[in-house]
Amino acid sequence: MTALGNPSADSGAAWWRGAAIFQVYIRSFADGNGDGIGDLAGVRSRLPYLRDLGINAIWFTPWYPSPMDDGGYDVADFRDIEPAFGTLAEAEALIGEAHALGIRVIIDIVPNHCSDLHRWFKAALAAGPGSPERDRFWFRPGQGEDGSEPPNDWQSRFGGPAWTRVTEPDGTPGEWFLHLYSSRQPDFNWDNPEIRAEFEDILKFWFDRGVDGFRIDVADGLVKDPALPNLADSGTISPFSDQDGLHDIYRSWRKIADSYPGERSLVAEMWLDDMSRAARYLRKDELHSAFNFDFLVCPWDEAKFRTVIENTVAAHAEVGAPAAWVLSNHDVTRPVTRYGRAGDTGFAFADRLHGTPVDRELGTRRSRAAALLAMSLPGGLYIYQGEELGLWEIEDIPDDLRQDPVFARTKGADPGRDGCRVPIPWSGTESPFGFSPDGAEGEPWLPQPESWVDYTAEAEGNDPASMLSLYRSGLALRASESALGDGKLEWHEHLDGVLSFTRDPGFACLVNFSAEPVPLPDHEKVLLASAELKDGLLPPDTAVWLRTR
Ligand code: BGC
Repeated sequence: MTALGNPSADSGAAWWRGAAIFQVYIRSFADGNGDGIGDLAGVRSRLPYLRDLGINAIWFTPWYPSPMDDGGYDVADFRDIEPAFGTLAEAEALIGEAHALGIRVIIDIVPNHCSDLHRWFKAALAAGPGSPERDRFWFRPGQGEDGSEPPNDWQSRFGGPAWTRVTEPDGTPGEWFLHLYSSRQPDFNWDNPEIRAEFEDILKFWFDRGVDGFRIDVADGLVKDPALPNLADSGTISPFSDQDGLHDIYRSWRKIADSYPGERSLVAEMWLDDMSRAARYLRKDELHSAFNFDFLVCPWDEAKFRTVIENTVAAHAEVGAPAAWVLSNHDVTRPVTRYGRAGDTGFAFADRLHGTPVDRELGTRRSRAAALLAMSLPGGLYIYQGEELGLWEIEDIPDDLRQDPVFARTKGADPGRDGCRVPIPWSGTESPFGFSPDGAEGEPWLPQPESWVDYTAEAEGNDPASMLSLYRSGLALRASESALGDGKLEWHEHLDGVLSFTRDPGFACLVNFSAEPVPLPDHEKVLLASAELKDGLLPPDTAVWLRTR
């Protein structure tokens, strides 16, 4: 193992409370070896871009060996690197190089499930019913005389039943196993102490290699009600989400994180209806932060944004944790499309309005305003690759190229999440737009639209009016203005339809959700605006940052 400098070791400060963290979805970020699939070599070559963007940390989506049934969220080995992405030695080099640029590294941990190719699942299939190997997962006999009905009524979040029947080693139809996601993602049984010990060891494996934190996939779902009751009989308490036993797991993870120098950090992917319930996971001896998905799905409406922000700030204050604002990720419709389409507000297919008309200009305008809003709220911030370029959702990917298991499991009813995962355009005038090196043999694994020619990092880097220039300026100010990042906000009643708050010392943010231009309050200087101010007025769908004294 190479010696890896850890930037957080130097300061000891709680960097994660206000960090701007950039999400890299590796297979779509940059392709170093020309096979059409992003990889670690590609990421390493683009680190200077991330430094110049002004982010504090990178979150890598899973980089482990995987058959890629669910884009790497089906992990076959938690202690190695997917060969299509590179090697463990390259990952170590990448961590060291990021640290040398002052960029911290967070990796994804997927503790709810693994791939059907994980050695433990293969052993469970081979060992048969009642074995200790099967006890690492949720194997159960089926219902009905011949066991041909699933053990309960749970549904996979990707569509279809959450149970799949196996063929026993003797060739007969046998038990069923639980998978809250695809049938190639068996759920671990967290009541089994071996699972707990294994994941604690995996955390140490990567902390020892210098990672600064983990993003915890499906953080609310690890513990199941062991009775596996039918959902129909479960009332308001979910048998597979927010179970009380989770807190002990995260307390032990926190102890491990705290045993390393330099504020290693744990961020939860968790979306509970009741934000106060979610905040309980952020108590001092549990996790550090959790994504704020209410903010992500909030429709373009001043009162709704204000309510989400108020609830978030209040719930986090109960436990002294910072909020983590998110506008997009690899699971949701890109913001330019969402905001360009009235009412597109969710993860669920029914909420996504796929394929309906989009006003991209309006969506871009609102995305720019939302970016400045998110960057100026108290707490941390996540930016998903391509968000800073203003990329939109690609909705016309041919069916035979779609790879998200959601598409197949819903029999095509839900196109899935490939549309926000199209490889990034870096430069040049035609696909692969610098995603792969010149002369590369492989095509990008999802097709890039020709219209991205004006949205490459190169083109936007030369255009002061581009989304990229806005993100660069916003992040630079966010770093230099002491009012921004972690801290507090105060609401101001300005005018109807205008969201307005101040942060000490001397900073104000206003977002005009109304249909009319509005005057600005007293200020000393305009620091940044998401669109040009006309006659000193703030136009509709625009955000402005002011220095107030
Ligand atoms: C990830 C998804 C993934 C799922 C199952 C999540 O919430 O963000 O991309 O499909 O977990 O691992």
